[in-house]
Amino acid sequence: MKSFKIGDLTIKLPIIQGGMGVGISLSGLASAVANEGGVGVISCAGMGLLYPKFSKDYLTNSIMGLKEEIRKARAKTRGVIGVNVMVALSNFSDMVKTSIAEKADIIFSGAGLPLDLPSYLQRESTTKLVPIVSSARAAKIICEKWKANYDYLPDAIVVEGPKAGGHLGYKNNQIDDANYSLEHIVPEVVAEARHFEKLYGRRIPVIAAGGLYTGEDIYRIMELGADGVQLGSKFVTTEECDASQAFKDTYINSREEDIEIIASPVGMPGRAIAGEFIRRVREGLTRPKKCPFHCIKTCDYTKSPYCIIMALYNAAKGNLSRGYAFAGANAFLSKKITSVRETIASLQAEFRAAELRRKRGPLSV
Ligand SMILES: Cc1cc2nc3c(=O)[nH]c(=O)nc-3n(C[C@H](O)[C@H](O)[C@H](O)COP(=O)(O)O)c2cc1C
Repeated sequence: MKSFKIGDLTIKLPIIQGGMGVGISLSGLASAVANEGGVGVISCAGMGLLYPKFSKDYLTNSIMGLKEEIRKARAKTRGVIGVNVMVALSNFSDMVKTSIAEKADIIFSGAGLPLDLPSYLQRESTTKLVPIVSSARAAKIICEKWKANYDYLPDAIVVEGPKAGGHLGYKNNQIDDANYSLEHIVPEVVAEARHFEKLYGRRIPVIAAGGLYTGEDIYRIMELGADGVQLGSKFVTTEECDASQAFKDTYINSREEDIEIIASPVGMPGRAIAGEFIRRVREGLTRPKKCPFHCIKTCDYTKSPYCIIMALYNAAKGNLSRGYAFAGANAFLSKKITSVRETIASLQAEFRAAELRRKRGPLSV
């Protein structure tokens, strides 16, 4: 696997660990991936719940918690550390400002179009900005608006296909449509990035995500033009992942048919492992009584069947009767817990084997 650059940062191993909330990717997982030469990403979703110790206020706790996680990660690695900040979060602005002030290397931002993201940079800022998109059209809109309004272009673009875990930027009928597959949209986003590179003389690497699970998957998507990959589910079943053992066990015990599309209160479809909680929601049995933190911009708690941040937090802590595990379409392939180092070593071996097969391909026919 070849290194690549995000702005002036060299990414030795072209593997980005996708930000995973609530409390799945914190400083533990992020620093372990960064130590192997990849990009480790802290998810700031629900941070205020994970850090109740600072005050009674969710928003203050979120800021203090994110600062602490970035500092903890820095103490464990000299590698590249990013923060995932979803546009849908009500405290998007707080989380972006904190990431930049704490000198996170990269902000990854999706679940909506982060159209004003460059407005947070100060002259001395070193943080790189990487939007997460689901289509070439979204990539084009972001490049045009950032260039016109802030004279800035994305430092890289993550394109997340419909097999990803968590919230999906697709309509239900697009999820299984081959026209929206990752293999279909990666070349389109690469073409869009090349267009802006030519116009402005600046490289925009493309990072592919969603359902990539083996080194062979990585090889195949790179053959389609991706410079790097973002993996989420693959890193859940690692020793260093910040989730509870019970959360990791839902992955290990899952079968292909357990991985489902659900309607999230955020207003987007999501992919998760089916369980008791999801079944109860379908039967109309849960409903939040109050909303202490209004964490998602689009969530109207009087109409929501449940509080998503609480459900994800409960699951991460191992209370799976009161929440559920988000998971990518291939999460059921996880069969045991391994260290991040072992996980990456096996991805590299599979990648090399795929490369060799490809090179020998015509000879062996
Ligand atoms: C448990 C879980 C939580 C996630 N949380 C977030 C999140 O907070 N923000 C975000 O942008 N993406 C989130 N994602 C998406 C991942 O960052 C990543 O892009 C995706 O999982 C890639 O697909 P894969 O899991 O098949 O590798 C989450 C995914 C999972 C599995």
